[in-house]
Amino acid sequence: MTAVVTFHEVYKRFGEREVLKGASFTIEKGTFNYLIGRTGAGKSTVLRLIYADLKPDKGSIKVDKFYIERLSDKEIPFLRRRLGIVFQDFQLLTDRSVEQNLLFVMRATGWRDKKRMRYRLTEVLMKVGLTHKAQAMPHELSGGEQQRVAIARALVNDPILLIADEPTGNLDPETSDEIIQLLQTIQQQGTTVLMATHEYEIIKQFPGNILRIQNGIIEPITLEKLLS
Ligand SMILES: Nc1ncnc2c1ncn2[C@@H]1O[C@H](COP(=O)(O)OP(=O)(O)O)[C@@H](O)[C@H]1O
Ligand SMILES: [Mg+2]
Repeated sequence: MTAVVTFHEVYKRFGEREVLKGASFTIEKGTFNYLIGRTGAGKSTVLRLIYADLKPDKGSIKVDKFYIERLSDKEIPFLRRRLGIVFQDFQLLTDRSVEQNLLFVMRATGWRDKKRMRYRLTEVLMKVGLTHKAQAMPHELSGGEQQRVAIARALVNDPILLIADEPTGNLDPETSDEIIQLLQTIQQQGTTVLMATHEYEIIKQFPGNILRIQNGIIEPITLEKLLS
């Protein structure tokens, strides 16, 4: 098996607040993983460390072939290009269409060939079931549709890892289920997924590896144990 993410004895603090106190875990290629824990437990911190928005105080973090603790600012774009990131609040550019949102990211990550860009655009919109909304503006879409656009955008560069930080946090339960279903389909098609959530209901319905963050430590846990 190949590891996409490896944390080895990672420490991270903000002032007095020690968020990670020797956290170690691995995410294997092709798997679906939940990162669970209470609000404030450190889920977003773990994800930010993975996409090098933060550096660890101590310990080692390997993502794809990159060591986060040694990554220079110049290398960060190369790491980010290998990752797809989805947030609770979608973070679409509100002043342009769905299509322009995707093209913007493509241009920013080095795409130049117009024909190829068109083709890839259609491909990712198809994956999320939104080809008919290519010309829509974000405000014309439902929350679920906006999150699908964010997922399409995250998939544009065929990431080795799709990271989702509470992607269903702003959605009603039914729409949440549809989004998780979509993330599961994406995983089944070969993309490794890591999703942070504090909603245990979701985990019961959709299977995956579970990593729990508690008191600065990260441990794999079974669903049975989690619910007992
Ligand atoms: N930039 C920061 N400065 C100070 N404290 C922070 C910062 N980021 C996170 N924290 C603190 O670290 C802890 C973990 O935060 P976070 O990773 O956002 O948790 P979660 O995503 O699980 O809710 C919280 O106590 C939070 O207040
Ligand atoms: Mg968070």
